[in-house]
Amino acid sequence: MILVTGGAGFIGANFVLNWLKACDEPVINLDKLTYAGNKDNLASLAADDRHIFVQGDIGDQVLVAKLLATHKPRAVLNFAAESHVDRSIHGPAAFVETNIVGTFRLLESVRQYWNALPSEEQGRFRFLHVSTDEVYGSLEADAPAFSETHQYAPNSPYSASKASSDHLVRAYHHTYGIPVLTTNCSNNYGPYQFPEKLIPLVIANALAGKNLPIYGDGKNIRDWLYVGDHCSAIQRVLAVGEVGETYNVGGKNEMANIDIVHIICDLLNAIRPRADGKSYREQITFVKDRPGHDRRYAIDARKIEAELDWRPAETFETGIRKTVEWYLANQQWVGRVMSGDYRDWISQNYSERKGV
Ligand code: NAD
Ligand code: DAU
Repeated sequence: MILVTGGAGFIGANFVLNWLKACDEPVINLDKLTYAGNKDNLASLAADDRHIFVQGDIGDQVLVAKLLATHKPRAVLNFAAESHVDRSIHGPAAFVETNIVGTFRLLESVRQYWNALPSEEQGRFRFLHVSTDEVYGSLEADAPAFSETHQYAPNSPYSASKASSDHLVRAYHHTYGIPVLTTNCSNNYGPYQFPEKLIPLVIANALAGKNLPIYGDGKNIRDWLYVGDHCSAIQRVLAVGEVGETYNVGGKNEMANIDIVHIICDLLNAIRPRADGKSYREQITFVKDRPGHDRRYAIDARKIEAELDWRPAETFETGIRKTVEWYLANQQWVGRVMSGDYRDWISQNYSERKGV
């Protein structure tokens, strides 16, 4: 059995669904169900007794100790986090609370559990921490991609909180011997991504006839990876990764935001044309930039490729088509997650960007 945290969010839910498609090892899924967590993502597992869902906080040491003692997982995979950079700019406290303090408390719970395991089980146990390339900060246009030895230089409250959690995980290995693994992945896209993030926001706004807001000049670069490929990388690291190591995960797919938005518009033009026959590109609006906006991320994934024989299965072309088709086929899901809470966030984040 494995314990997954944050498994009702975008990547965690994809991971749990893929895991249980591929094997019968049960999953305990601990998720606080914040605005980003959605049990609908796991609806297909409702009658599946290999999946045990528990609503709760990674920082609740009483609850986590009980889950560990009852289910005796062979691994804990930590996806739970506050994950949206813009929200971290508006309200950093939740990011410190969950990403730093929550991870610390989770590590403490795991340490107590692990200390009491027989030594053979201690050796087999893994704590896998899911992190981000944003901990490395921003790259110049011609700089080499981030390798695992790149210096940490986080620039947003989100990336600073993830960097802190990475350091705590590292310290729990070096100090207490906990068998940890860390993955630092680039931007994901795919089914079940909350429509506050660029790709699902653009798809949802395009279909709703709203503006497609592009921060700054639209030339910021991200290195996009299909979520299923991130999940396969995590599975691979869990299975054969070397304890104490970190692995960068990416799709060698650097693209400027404006190019991503053009691709989405063109796909929608072809699959679901606007009633007036005009291009969705007409909805593009350049808006005020994100403060401290990192210019470029790029991942050097040679370590995971060479040492763990991992490769992404999707190209951007196949992955973005699947993604657009998924959102078109799942408009009810989109409608449900765009609750009153969501509308409050959209007005908070975008009203100040008007007219730029
Ligand atoms: P998400 O915001 O979609 O989901 C986060 C999940 O964590 C939600 O289900 C939420 O309810 C849960 N959660 C939040 N606080 C919690 C707490 N205190 N206790 C228990 N559960 C809690 O995020 P995501 O995009 O799926 O990202 C998952 C992980 O992957 C994060 O750690 C993120 O930093 C990392 N990551 C994300 C990306 C990306 O592009 N989305 C890329 C690299 C790494
Ligand atoms: O790099 C990995 C990270 O990718 C993860 O750690 C984060 O959890 C995840 O949210 C993502 O962070 P980004 O800030 O890169 O993703 P986001 O989708 O918010 O933005 C992608 C780019 O698009 C970024 O340059 C900002 C820009 N953008 C975003 C939004 C929401 C816009 O131009 N307009 C928008 O409305």
